[in-house]
Amino acid sequence: MMNKAIILLFIFINIVFVYTTTPSFQIDNQATVTLIKQYNQSQLYEISSFGYAQPIYVANLTGTSYEMGYAYGYFFAEAIVESYHSLLDNVLPNQEAQDVLELFLDWQFKDFLSKQLPQQYFDELRGLSDGANEAGMPDVSVLAIRTMTIANFPGDIQSNIEYLLENEAESLVSYLFTEEYKNIIESGKFVRVLEQLALSGFKGWQCSHFSVWGDRTVNGDMFNGRNLDWFPGTGISQHKVLAVYHPTTGGSAFLNVGFAGLLGSITGISANGIFVAESDSDTRPVTFDGFAWTLRLRYVMQYASTIEEALNIWRTTNNTFGMNHMLSSAFEANTVQHPAYALETMKGYTAYFPDNDPSEVYYYKDTGVQMGYPIPQAVYRTNHGYDQRIRQEQTFVPAPGDDTMVRYFLFHDNFEYFGQQNAIGDLAAVNITSILGDKNNTDFYDCSEAYNGANVVSATFHSQTSTMYIAYEEGSGAQRKCACCGVYVKIDLAQWFGSSIPSTATRFSSSPSVNINHNRNTKNSHN
Ligand SMILES: *[C@@H]1O[C@H](CO)[C@@H](O)[C@H](O)[C@H]1NC(C)=O
Ligand SMILES: *[C@@H]1O[C@H](CO)[C@@H](O)[C@H](O)[C@H]1NC(C)=O
Ligand SMILES: *[C@@H]1O[C@H](CO)[C@@H](O)[C@H](O)[C@H]1NC(C)=O
Ligand SMILES: *[C@@H]1O[C@H](CO)[C@@H](O)[C@H](O)[C@H]1NC(C)=O
Ligand SMILES: *[C@@H]1O[C@H](CO)[C@@H](O)[C@H](O)[C@H]1NC(C)=O
Repeated sequence: MMNKAIILLFIFINIVFVYTTTPSFQIDNQATVTLIKQYNQSQLYEISSFGYAQPIYVANLTGTSYEMGYAYGYFFAEAIVESYHSLLDNVLPNQEAQDVLELFLDWQFKDFLSKQLPQQYFDELRGLSDGANEAGMPDVSVLAIRTMTIANFPGDIQSNIEYLLENEAESLVSYLFTEEYKNIIESGKFVRVLEQLALSGFKGWQCSHFSVWGDRTVNGDMFNGRNLDWFPGTGISQHKVLAVYHPTTGGSAFLNVGFAGLLGSITGISANGIFVAESDSDTRPVTFDGFAWTLRLRYVMQYASTIEEALNIWRTTNNTFGMNHMLSSAFEANTVQHPAYALETMKGYTAYFPDNDPSEVYYYKDTGVQMGYPIPQAVYRTNHGYDQRIRQEQTFVPAPGDDTMVRYFLFHDNFEYFGQQNAIGDLAAVNITSILGDKNNTDFYDCSEAYNGANVVSATFHSQTSTMYIAYEEGSGAQRKCACCGVYVKIDLAQWFGSSIPSTATRFSSSPSVNINHNRNTKNSHN
């Protein structure tokens, strides 16, 4: 093993722009990358940044699904155990409640969520377990499965869980009668525990994502961004992991943004420029009988190289519950008519929205206020839908002044503001991502309450220059900073994708547009 060999690999001295200081966020162009471990063909690196007390890990994994899972388990076994228990202790301090939750999660996986999972993920989980064993830890695959199942929960568990349990009552009974827990369902504990989880876990419920390209951006390049507001301040993000997969059994390389133990994708990008994202948008039809969305997004990154292929994978696999997703193809920004789609989904149904889609225009019936503002060359979503069928099934229908609407308008106004004379470059793209993150404040430009902000991960991608900017929540208690108010670390994707980056990608950095003076009161501009 090379555990002890610490090899300083790369020091980025990037003079394109040095630290950009604003009251809201900073960019670190000079993070250092250090190799700390190796297993077979896979490596573990640390990225050290002035913004973070602990490094951001990069697992550069090459092999079969089993081998990549093995290396991941070997590298992160302890971190997986620690993150899982930290999350559970934080949201459900009561041990009995944790037992009930685990019973629920294991049942959901066994009877539903596992059924449509492609074999490769079982191989990976087997590798994960064996790799953890080699590192001297017990089987961590069960924890990874539970984390995946938690990630697959609807955001609004409280209103959704009864629909789920209604549909699955028969399976629950048969599952429980094989176990020692029969009384749990009769005593109503299930629902109470899940409610508690809902209350503490999904405080933020304010994810967002976008793709913008063409006339709005420097060189017409595509920029993608995503905010994750999920279990803020619970310790789930204490081991920050960028997992880069190089499958030797088919498909392309991709980078998955997440934490130790979260094998699925909350966002990421492939060497082919395929971007995926998710924002919660709850609907009544719910099932766990589908392709767990976090792994489904990973599957798209691995197997799609065009937007058409990405959409086809989506069409031929099954939804679980209400979500907004995005599938985009950065390298097709200037070659296909619609390189990015917002997907509004629920059980059994997906509505596909390219840019400037007239069906996104919608007027509130009672007030006549316009709710949707589709524009060309930008696609964006927060936490509500526009499709008629989706709107009818939403558990929460936002009013014009609600947070999710305000953030949708922020997207629209920012994209309208930037244009031919003022094209979006790296800095502006990061800025837009940051503006949309939850800062526990009704003013999206103000980070004074950053310790309470729900934003946990904030990421901006620019495939044409092989660049990603990644921010995580940092610190705890009064010292905590939500991701979008902290430090975005610049990552060179080419370094990780190696030879699999398409040769058509241009490698120079575009000059950042720094002259942003955008002082409109965006919040009220549509009300
Ligand atoms: C490690 O590499 C050897 C030789 O290539 C291979 O046979 C073995 O399957 C690999 N094991 C893992 C867990 O990656
Ligand atoms: C999707 O669901 C249908 C009906 O439930 C099922 O027949 C089909 O096999 C599922 N598709 C996949 C890819 O699992
Ligand atoms: C800020 O966080 C506190 C505590 O979680 C919450 O009560 C309050 O509603 C939040 N304020 C905003 C504007 O999000
Ligand atoms: C990551 O792995 C890929 C494929 O094995 C390789 O081409 C690339 O150089 C690796 N990157 C680093 C920094 O080790
Ligand atoms: C981000 O955008 C806001 C509003 O448009 C602007 O005031 C601020 O200066 C921008 N920050 C950077 C770093 O460009």
